[in-house]
Amino acid sequence: MGESKTYTLDEISQHQDRKSAWILIHGNVYDVTKFLEEHPGGEEVLLEQAGKHASEAFEDIGHSSDARDLMKQYCIGELCEEDKKKIVEIEEKNHWPVGGNDESSWKNWLIPIAVAILASLLYRFYMNYNA
Ligand code: HEM
Repeated sequence: MGESKTYTLDEISQHQDRKSAWILIHGNVYDVTKFLEEHPGGEEVLLEQAGKHASEAFEDIGHSSDARDLMKQYCIGELCEEDKKKIVEIEEKNHWPVGGNDESSWKNWLIPIAVAILASLLYRFYMNYNA
């Protein structure tokens, strides 16, 4: 595709209906107008995100690698550098992207383990007390 076209957040926000729906995911701009009816998750969710930054919504669903391959064909360009900086700041606050933040991954298993240990200690304590 050569050099890709860049868009501002303002431009993207003007494409938020069935006639023209653009979505911003991971710094890339996708024109999903023709994909609305084909989206397995339904057109409603896409229209809800149209004109907006939807990385988080997209990741929350846990889209398959097939979905990620498919989206490439709807890519029309990138977010301009200046607006990208703004987005990166927001995403860093939300512990995204995947693989970027080690700290959040250890918390994911450490907290459940701590809760399990605490529960078993309480249980033992309770059983001893009642013996
Ligand atoms: C160009 C962008 C997108 C493409 C190509 C795409 C593609 C797909 C595909 C192929 C599936 C089937 C399941 C899978 O393979 O993972 C799917 C499901 C789904 N998608 Fe998307 N999607 C896009 C954007 C979005 C966005 C922005 C949302 C916003 C919330 C969304 C919400 C959903 C939902 C709710 C499902 C159904 C999940 C389920 O039934 O378990 N998608 N999408």
